[in-house]
Amino acid sequence: MTQSTMKLPTNALLDAMASKTRHVFITGASRGIGEATARLLADKNVHMTLAARSYNRLLGVCMDVGVEKSHAVKLDLVEEQSIDDAITTAESKFGPIDVLICNAGIHEDTPLSDVSAQGRARFRRVIEVNLVGTYFLAQLASLHMRPGGRIIFIGSVLSRVGAPQVNAYAASKHALMGLTRSMALELAPRNIRVNSVNPTWVDTDMARAAINRRAEKTGESVSDVAAKYIGRQPIRRMVKPLEVASYIEFLMGPGGDAITGQGIDISCGMVSP
Ligand SMILES: NC(=O)c1ccc[n+]([C@@H]2O[C@H](COP(=O)([O-])OP(=O)(O)OC[C@H]3O[C@@H](n4cnc5c(N)ncnc54)[C@H](OP(=O)(O)O)[C@@H]3O)[C@@H](O)[C@H]2O)c1
Repeated sequence: MTQSTMKLPTNALLDAMASKTRHVFITGASRGIGEATARLLADKNVHMTLAARSYNRLLGVCMDVGVEKSHAVKLDLVEEQSIDDAITTAESKFGPIDVLICNAGIHEDTPLSDVSAQGRARFRRVIEVNLVGTYFLAQLASLHMRPGGRIIFIGSVLSRVGAPQVNAYAASKHALMGLTRSMALELAPRNIRVNSVNPTWVDTDMARAAINRRAEKTGESVSDVAAKYIGRQPIRRMVKPLEVASYIEFLMGPGGDAITGQGIDISCGMVSP
């Protein structure tokens, strides 16, 4: 068999993307998947805006990835002014955003039986952070985004299937798939790609807190709860933050140029319907 010499199709846009320094805006960069993504991109040809509420933690990440190529922006996705300010600050520092990684999110228990004022407030907060604020940010970033741009949402396996006790979280993540599909169609004529990366359990503070909460509620041990969750997956382990970051990096690059409106499942073999 002769070895193929065929090259991937290339064009001026992909060449320009590869040569110019791109401005990557990462929400939730203070820890977990967002931080891992910032660290993975540290030696790439990018400028980075790192956003979250914990400013000091962001500064620490900036120091590590390089202060000449990154800056920290305080962002609270439940506050419209904060969203507007974050985009204005980012664009005035590094110009229009080329890659928006909507990674920030919260995971809280919102069981059906909780009809208390606190329960309703929790439901609203999850939707505000994971969906409403995330959408407002993506809207603003898309306004000045140039051809070749990317918007990448971090969804979840709960973008695909339901789970008891976390109704707001599952609803918010399913909604991100709707945004992904609709925004992809609206932005395709401008050569901007919109996709969602949907991981199963990732080894971060969020997953650890969720498992601890469940153990506290049920009286089971933390390791039993973790084993039960992981045991439902054909690949019986958690995803590493770097594995999600690597897929984000792939979507940012030329390999991601023919992919839009998709949810890419990093689900350890859990199959979506
Ligand atoms: N870990 C998992 O098992 C898992 C599985 C599937 C999907 N995901 C998704 O992956 C994404 C990242 O999760 P992770 O595991 O890395 O979680 P994490 O370690 O808890 O990090 C969440 C990030 O979101 C930021 N954030 C939270 N509330 C915010 C707000 N109101 N405004 C701005 N930023 C806010 C946090 O920073 P501050 O607290 O400093 O604001 C933090 O940087 C989330 O969208 C999550 O739903 C996670």
